Amino acid sequence: MQDFKVAVATCLKEHIEELTLEEITALIEVPPNKEMGDFAFPCFKLAKVFRKAPNMIAAELSEKIEPKGVISNVTPLGGYINFFVNKSQLAETVIKDVLTKKEKYGHSDLGKDKTIVIDFSSPNIAKPFHIGHIRTTVIGNALYKIYDSQGYNTVRINHLGDYGTQFGKLIVAFKLWGNKEAVEANPIPELLKLYIQFHDEAEKHPEMEDEARAWFTKLENGDKEAKELWQWFRDESLKEFARVYDLLDIEFDSYNGESFYSDKMDRVIDIIKDKGLLKESQGTNIVDLDEYNMPPALITKNDGSTLYMTRDLAAALYRKENYDFEKCIYVVGSQQSLHFQQLFKVLELVGFEWAKDMIHVPFGMVALEEGTMSTRKGRVVFLEDVLKQAIEKTKETMLAKNPNALNVDEIAKQVGVGAVVFQELSNSRIKDYTFSWSRTLSFEGETGPYVQYTHARCCAVLRKAEEEVTTDINYELLNDVDSAEVLKVIASFNKTILNAMRKNEPHIITRFVLDLAQAFNKFYHDNSILVEDTELRKARLALVAVTRQALENGLKLLGMQAPERM
Ligand code: ARG
Repeated sequence: MQDFKVAVATCLKEHIEELTLEEITALIEVPPNKEMGDFAFPCFKLAKVFRKAPNMIAAELSEKIEPKGVISNVTPLGGYINFFVNKSQLAETVIKDVLTKKEKYGHSDLGKDKTIVIDFSSPNIAKPFHIGHIRTTVIGNALYKIYDSQGYNTVRINHLGDYGTQFGKLIVAFKLWGNKEAVEANPIPELLKLYIQFHDEAEKHPEMEDEARAWFTKLENGDKEAKELWQWFRDESLKEFARVYDLLDIEFDSYNGESFYSDKMDRVIDIIKDKGLLKESQGTNIVDLDEYNMPPALITKNDGSTLYMTRDLAAALYRKENYDFEKCIYVVGSQQSLHFQQLFKVLELVGFEWAKDMIHVPFGMVALEEGTMSTRKGRVVFLEDVLKQAIEKTKETMLAKNPNALNVDEIAKQVGVGAVVFQELSNSRIKDYTFSWSRTLSFEGETGPYVQYTHARCCAVLRKAEEEVTTDINYELLNDVDSAEVLKVIASFNKTILNAMRKNEPHIITRFVLDLAQAFNKFYHDNSILVEDTELRKARLALVAVTRQALENGLKLLGMQAPERM
């Protein structure tokens, strides 16, 4: 795809030796109003270099630059040089490109032969899969789609929380009060109940904690009964998680969770020891990080048992050896920022040069309107309930609009789930936010359903036209401002994906589909498409077709569906 910004930068470069092409490209802006031009170059930075006033530089450079190719006009305005893009050339380039590449439009093979590991979702077994997990799940999945679209071999890992002393507690509780049938009928709520009951009872009978520890040690030593119970808790939990992943249409390449590393920790502890980094402190083993203004990383506890950190150290090493990643990304809430800083620091101190390739992608917390979420107090919103309610509500809205709507269940699922996904992604990652049913399910404003609806609208026009879309059209007919706005957004798709990828920010893609939907709806509002004039109709249909394709590709990157009817 000919990138228009690059074309502008190339023109400028011929006359500016003092800046590199990249520096020039980075300076190019989009003017506040279209009458000024499609792109603008501010000359303020050059003032020092050229020892001249910015408006003088703008005037002189504009004189020198010959409009050619996609650039149709160059004019100075104050300290800026404004560039106008040749709109029919823009139309031709974009339409031909989109209609040949289709669902691959925007994609590239930049990441060929390189591997990216993404650790996301990673819930804890026997605990609710609640609304707090939605962000890691959908952000991780969108990042997977984004890297995958640029040709990276992308590995999705669900680092399940399936190990640790809490399983000793659960075994004790189950043996005391558990009921197999009840757990099988309703696994996570039942297991959670047992866990809560354990904590209540253990307050009165602290010796239960010792018993729990003893059971966890048995589990670690491969005791048959302990292992069978644990395996069963894990299987039942995974069945519940699978229902949510199904609704979201998310898959993983590996479910190697914390337990997978139970036999891989000794090695990493030895490596740390050999480097002289392991320190004893009150019976525990730590890596001192005082020098880096961090609390020590705890490697083993008093009783010799390992921790979350130990398993993450083993996991990092395993991933490097097994996948030879270029980057290993952890999509985990910002409450764990310190944990990841410590983890990466320990890897660096051990001397793994690839420690620099580990990236924590944090995000803000989800709060409930009625106060903070608390698993122990049972104040949680189950993710499955949120998705199901979203689907139900969408179905009601659809049937209210059209009682004879076709395929309602399937479409309500695509739109309802899409609404939740889009709302999670369109919030800037790092901000905390309060979960609200009404906001999530509102179909007005900058929402997923709005974008999907625009896509369905394009499909409806194309269906109604009943004629083939071709690239053999008169591109001069698309040089109006409304069409050019749509085409300019589409033209920026690949750059936008790369930007989202470099920043690990899927919300940049939500902005892209919203901008495209808005530009298209303006065009649609102001222009008839299925006009008598054959040439004009053909040209406008091509515009509709490429908009539809770009919206579909954008939605897919977000992990959403693009229904043809709504
Ligand atoms: N299970 C953890 C939690 O729910 C998240 C795990 C994230 N991944 C990791 N490698 N530490 O908080």
